Amino acid sequence: MKTIKHTLCALAALCVASAALPWSAEAALVGISMPSNERGRWLDDGNEMKMGLEAAGHQTILAFAGANDVKLQQQQLDEMLDKGAQYLIISCVDNKSLGAQLNKAHQKGVKVIAYDRLLLDTEALDYYVSFDSVFVGKIMGRYIAGMLNLDESGEVPNIEFCQGSPVDQNATYVWEGSMAELQPYLDRQRLNCPSGETSLEQTNVMYWNRTKAYERMKKLIASQDYHPGKKRLDAVLAASDGIAAGVIDALREAGYDSSNMPIVVGQDCDKINVAMMIKGLQSMSVFKDTRELSLVAVSMVDALSKNLEVPLNDTEHYNNGKKVIPSYLLDPDIVTTESLKEVLFDTGYYDIEVFSDEEYLNKTVAAPEHK
Ligand code: BGC
Repeated sequence: MKTIKHTLCALAALCVASAALPWSAEAALVGISMPSNERGRWLDDGNEMKMGLEAAGHQTILAFAGANDVKLQQQQLDEMLDKGAQYLIISCVDNKSLGAQLNKAHQKGVKVIAYDRLLLDTEALDYYVSFDSVFVGKIMGRYIAGMLNLDESGEVPNIEFCQGSPVDQNATYVWEGSMAELQPYLDRQRLNCPSGETSLEQTNVMYWNRTKAYERMKKLIASQDYHPGKKRLDAVLAASDGIAAGVIDALREAGYDSSNMPIVVGQDCDKINVAMMIKGLQSMSVFKDTRELSLVAVSMVDALSKNLEVPLNDTEHYNNGKKVIPSYLLDPDIVTTESLKEVLFDTGYYDIEVFSDEEYLNKTVAAPEHK
């Protein structure tokens, strides 16, 4: 079992470490607000934090904001505050939509941690824990440049972009990182984007949604006439695995399969995309270990509740438009078909048995009905 074993081991280490320190523990009530119950990672993040906090003696209220429902997230946060939450750990649907709830939290002396996604334009934010999303974008860009051999090849490959949600700051970071790597090749005409759409405004996918990514890719296929044997498409930079899945759905409909699929990259190593990698449909995914991220958030709350030093490793770079937010950033990892076993299976993140079942793989990579 991926989550339980790992988190409890790590938490045990944390408790042993803190046992050596002055202990003025009080069980806290912690509200955990995740943006969606549609995608694998947020369910894992939320449940891992709940489990970790409860193992450390705290109480939790865990809520998922349906299908990226801003209003529902606002309501859920209001409820957490009404029930007396002393800490809020929030991964927002929309980075500027929670002002009223955050102000209310601060008026009550509640500490707020932005989890994975930075909350913008507010003074009422205390900490930020995340992966370095600029680096995520760089990993994607470097991988594509390497796979297309852009430094040496005489050919000029074709690429299209499906970037992240315009209301999530991580989309900006991933876009910045990926374009820092790829823009120089576009400028020197060593790489071509036939649609000409490279800005975040032109290429974003609202809420990182699979169906919206599918629709964007369908449009690109139609306008550029990408098909096997017709106009070549060599790579698609999809900013997340949800987006990559929608892109792959559209490409398969256009006749691509594992023998001729363009390079498609994503992030998260969602189960669907791991299955897609095993089936030769997706080339790479950036792995962000939710066990580690959730543990940092748990450690932060635990430290705050015991008046201990809060774990931080960046107090300079994350300005939310109002102030610099003290942060803890983790480094992501690259996962390709070659490294899947080592990074995801050998570490117990996923069960290799599950992914060895052909029936499971076929079911998992099947496209949903996009409507
Ligand atoms: C996260 C990604 C995730 C995306 C869609 C981003 O904020 O950093 O890990 O793929 O949201 O859920």
